Amino acid sequence: MSLAQFHEALEREPICALRGKRALVTGGAGFIGSHIAEGLLRCGVEVVILDDLSSGHLKNVPSGAKFEQGSVLDEACLARAIEGCDLVFHEAAMVSVPQSVEQPERCLMINVLGTQRVLEAARQAGAKRVMLAASAAAYGDEPSLPSAESDTTAPCSPYAMSKIAGEQLLGVWSKTHGLETLSLRYFNIFGPRQDPRSAYAAVISAFASKLSAGERPIVFGDGKQTRDFTHISNVVLANLLAAASPGTWAGEVLNIGTGHAVSLLELAGQMGKILGQELEPIHESARAGDVEHSRADIGEARRLLGYEPLVGLAEGLGDTLAWFGSED
Ligand SMILES: NC(=O)c1ccc[n+]([C@@H]2O[C@H](COP(=O)([O-])OP(=O)(O)OC[C@H]3O[C@@H](n4cnc5c(N)ncnc54)[C@H](O)[C@@H]3O)[C@@H](O)[C@H]2O)c1
Repeated sequence: MSLAQFHEALEREPICALRGKRALVTGGAGFIGSHIAEGLLRCGVEVVILDDLSSGHLKNVPSGAKFEQGSVLDEACLARAIEGCDLVFHEAAMVSVPQSVEQPERCLMINVLGTQRVLEAARQAGAKRVMLAASAAAYGDEPSLPSAESDTTAPCSPYAMSKIAGEQLLGVWSKTHGLETLSLRYFNIFGPRQDPRSAYAAVISAFASKLSAGERPIVFGDGKQTRDFTHISNVVLANLLAAASPGTWAGEVLNIGTGHAVSLLELAGQMGKILGQELEPIHESARAGDVEHSRADIGEARRLLGYEPLVGLAEGLGDTLAWFGSED
């Protein structure tokens, strides 16, 4: 498993067949969207990014991509951005669970109505395929692990509920309009460019930022919660495989993770070792809407996409911490 294998995979079938296509990446100034855009550009795909910069940054937009600033809720702006696109990667969203608990209506506007507008714009523009950034949050605290797509969903937050609604909208647009759609349920993605500054920062970027500064990382709750931490290159790979796959998609939902999980305490320990900063975490009270345990069953993504995670936790953490080091 390695980053080199990931780069090689972009040059090979089926992904190299994407060359010459045009794609819209919503949320492409954010963490995941900017990496998908970069992967697409590497494959010779023309990329348009639509982002309102609410949590993303202009500096994340890869050179070579066309940038349109605006919201997915703005139909005129969407229509401009999507013109001539074959593929849509819909990554724009209110991404934070705690923020969705504080602002549920805003969350539903952006994540549900926003997704409907993207689907409708894709249909009107004659795009072929839409991929949605769905979330493992859909499983909530469902006790059987690893989580499989056939498991009952049990959303614990407006965010999780909005992501399930998004998946269902994709299924409906496939049934009613024949638009090809596929939802990828991401499991705790991490990597370079993940923003540690937000009050809602994901745990690896928050730990990396603290440890790099020689400060103790903050853990919400007892730190025994477990997560399937997945390096960003695996998510890019899954998206490009989904876009390039020769079959047809009609609202399928696939888990994208690694199939392995570690606790937050183990994670802080591993990161501290890499940095030579083994600092005891500070514990703060658990956050509303957070789940205890999460791990993906990736059997369906293997079967339908030929997806295999190529970068594991140790290499992924090394890559991420090196990026944090270079940002100082
Ligand atoms: N990071 C993870 O672990 C994870 C896990 C599961 C799902 N996801 C999903 O992946 C997607 C990307 O998440 P991320 O971690 O890169 O977050 P991010 O905040 O870095 O990226 C989201 C981007 O969407 C943009 N955006 C937000 N609202 C918008 C709007 N109304 N119109 C246009 N742009 C808008 C933001 O400015 C930002 O650039 C989201 O849909 C998120 O729900 C992420």
